[in-house]
Amino acid sequence: MKTIAVIPGDGIGVDVTRECMRVLHRVNDTFSAGLEFTEFDWSADKYLQEGVTLPAGALDMLRNDFAAILFGAIGDPRVPDNRHAADILLGMRFGLDLYANVRPVVLMHEKLCPLKNAAVENVNFTVIRENTEGAYVNAGGVFKKGTADEIATQEEIHTRKGVERVIAYAYEYAQAKGRGQVCMSDKSNVMRFAGDLWQRTFKDVGARYPGIRSSHLYVDALTLLMVLKPADFEVIVTNNMFGDIVTDLAAALQGGLGMAASGNINPGGVSLFEPVHGSAPPLAGRNVANPMGSILTAAMMLEHLGLAEPARTIESAVAKCVAADQTTSDIGGKLGTREVTDAILSYL
Ligand SMILES: NC(=O)c1ccc[n+]([C@@H]2O[C@H](COP(=O)([O-])OP(=O)(O)OC[C@H]3O[C@@H](n4cnc5c(N)ncnc54)[C@H](O)[C@@H]3O)[C@@H](O)[C@H]2O)c1
Repeated sequence: MKTIAVIPGDGIGVDVTRECMRVLHRVNDTFSAGLEFTEFDWSADKYLQEGVTLPAGALDMLRNDFAAILFGAIGDPRVPDNRHAADILLGMRFGLDLYANVRPVVLMHEKLCPLKNAAVENVNFTVIRENTEGAYVNAGGVFKKGTADEIATQEEIHTRKGVERVIAYAYEYAQAKGRGQVCMSDKSNVMRFAGDLWQRTFKDVGARYPGIRSSHLYVDALTLLMVLKPADFEVIVTNNMFGDIVTDLAAALQGGLGMAASGNINPGGVSLFEPVHGSAPPLAGRNVANPMGSILTAAMMLEHLGLAEPARTIESAVAKCVAADQTTSDIGGKLGTREVTDAILSYL
């Protein structure tokens, strides 16, 4: 039995998770996958009604009682500072030490790619983003706020341990997936101190994997080449901030945010899987959100749990829907969220 914590969150997170669960229940029936689900209503609604974000004891419970976490999306305009979102999602990313953010960039059909003459075999790489350090540690301060002399500082934290483990994860991932190259991207020509740490660590870790080619690009050159020559990439590893930015560009190459899946991985503990998109409040509850990002995320989760066969079956069903234009309007189709899931289920 594999127990999954399901956290739909806010907005379209709720819409797409509902559809994703239909697919997972089918997987349970068809493959005897032995998945068991417990849903948690941690969201803006709960915060506004009860003042609770991530309940006391939640992290220990997730760590001890669950094999994986399936997340929707979080963010609600009724909570202008998105405090609940920071507590819940960043709380889990930091609290469960989910240090490797894994974002496969797979083009399911040429028609989804905005590049001229795109071919599916040319957009097939994975970005591994450091997920617990960098610019996201909320370090810095402000002085003389609101005056003409105001000063703001925003600091990044990079630790040898943090950099080393995410780079090692990228090589392990490349090895496990039969990929031949890891490209590390930074801005070490300008951000010299952190850049130097990343550069030295990359050399040290890369030396342990002689069968995998190591390459380096400054992040500005990386963005250029991701557009001009996406086929050059297999596995990219980068810091938290650069990873945040380049993965949105990468999502565009595969058909947009509605198609992008991700895992927040702690290789020694419980991991969290979520579509890359946010809660898209204007689309919420209207049966228009694309559920494919969430459903492909479920496939990633299944593979992580050792259920590769249902994972491949789901991916292939999604690809068939894309080929047949059984899609939502963000990628050119005419179907609603539920009808896309019906179509996916018909191929399973
Ligand atoms: N991991 C997360 O939970 C996460 C990630 C990003 C943003 N957010 C939050 O979500 C809220 C909205 O943020 P945003 O608008 O910047 O990003 P968003 O991803 O919600 O939406 C960006 C754009 O993509 C479209 N889009 C996104 N997902 C789609 C889908 N499945 N189907 C069709 N179209 C889709 C939206 O309509 C919008 O035009 C904010 O509160 C933000 O903080 C949460």
